[in-house]
Amino acid sequence: MTAQTHWQAWHEPYADETSPLSRRLRLVQQHIASWLDHRSGEGLTVVSACAGQGHDLIGVLASRADARRLHGTLLEYDAGNVAAAQAAADQAGLSNLVIKQADAGQLSSYVGAVPADLVLMVGVFGNISDADVKRSIAALPQLCAAGATVIWTRTRRAPDLTPTVRGWLRDAGFAEVEFHAPDDVRFSVGVHLFEGTPQPVNATGTIFTFLR
Ligand SMILES: C[S@@+](CC[C@H](N)C(=O)[O-])C[C@H]1O[C@@H](n2cnc3c(N)ncnc32)[C@H](O)[C@@H]1O
Repeated sequence: MTAQTHWQAWHEPYADETSPLSRRLRLVQQHIASWLDHRSGEGLTVVSACAGQGHDLIGVLASRADARRLHGTLLEYDAGNVAAAQAAADQAGLSNLVIKQADAGQLSSYVGAVPADLVLMVGVFGNISDADVKRSIAALPQLCAAGATVIWTRTRRAPDLTPTVRGWLRDAGFAEVEFHAPDDVRFSVGVHLFEGTPQPVNATGTIFTFLR
């Protein structure tokens, strides 16, 4: 599954604040923070698919006094990244987050972690086939609570799939809140609001397989 890509080394550009990856991270973090600002109450839930070292979610929650309003699960396959995310969560005192080594392409991995109020699909859609992107989006109602927000990313490397992705999200019951596609980079960041009806998880389902 991940034989060709070293998914720990993949995180290294985060050390450079000017890298496109860091720019993408800041956008994702802004949307996570803004989502928390706009959601009142306790008991909010989050799930992050292919969470890596958790820079986005842990990075936001580490500096928030209200971090405990949110609890959730980070699903990550690579053991080194799981350990890094766990260390970051521990350092920030975020015992409200579970870092789970699991295959996020299997819906069974989400059982107990969903329905979630915030679903992060960050760094996923650019690493799977177009058919799997479509399948994953169609399955999002199984991951989302009513009124959930999904934050997702996708490269716009030609042929740019993002117009199709946005259409698939519309078809799955999502309204677009934001779509960032800066001219000088190839990444994009989307934010979508779930307006449909949550569906039970089909725990035998597969939604994606990483290509690299
Ligand atoms: C492109 S990185 C994104 C990491 C993180 N979301 C971010 O944006 O910083 C993809 C991550 O998915 C992980 N991964 C690959 N296949 C996976 C799978 N089937 N289930 C869970 N994680 C997987 C990799 O180890 C890697 O950490």
